[in-house]
Amino acid sequence: MEIRELRPSDGAEVRALWQASGVRIRPGDDDVSLARLLSHNPGLCLVGCEGDRIVSTALVGFDGRRGWLYHVATHPDMRRRGIATRIVREVEERLRAQGCKKLNLIVWDEEEDAMTFWTAIGYRRERTVEFAKPLADE
Ligand SMILES: CC(C)(COP(=O)(O)OP(=O)(O)OC[C@H]1O[C@@H](n2cnc3c(N)ncnc32)[C@H](O)[C@@H]1OP(=O)(O)O)[C@@H](O)C(=O)NCCC(=O)NCCS
Repeated sequence: MEIRELRPSDGAEVRALWQASGVRIRPGDDDVSLARLLSHNPGLCLVGCEGDRIVSTALVGFDGRRGWLYHVATHPDMRRRGIATRIVREVEERLRAQGCKKLNLIVWDEEEDAMTFWTAIGYRRERTVEFAKPLADE
């Protein structure tokens, strides 16, 4: 698998991958929002490719204090081959090189497999509760 940076032209393909993977498509997933995420975080939003096909994604925002991971996903027919682990390790390395000291992510309550995955690759559940407020229609 080749890991490369997400391109603005990948929008439709990654949204199809997220849909197939059970990832909730969010307001930040349209082409304009993805392009903004890419321009704010050069080199940090990655896709894993087998030939021409995108099989995995990991989006990252680094705000100068924390890194935030979004949409870590592997296509259902490519799972349990270490693909998500590889792409997350690549993100970690790139963030470390930028001085980021901690990487956060959100897992929904019912996503047991995701929790098992994160635990298996060295992430720990924090004792925090997330608060949020939409600033635009969702
Ligand atoms: C979670 C997800 C990204 C894992 O992708 P993957 O490429 O299959 O992960 P890896 O092969 O790197 O798995 C690494 C380890 O995590 C654990 N793991 C991964 N998926 C697991 C599952 N479904 N059940 C139990 N353990 C799992 C295993 O320990 C695995 O190592 P092993 O295969 O040697 O036992 C993938 O299942 C997915 O896209 N899920 C839907 C989207 C999602 O939930 N994303 C996370 C959002 S927070």
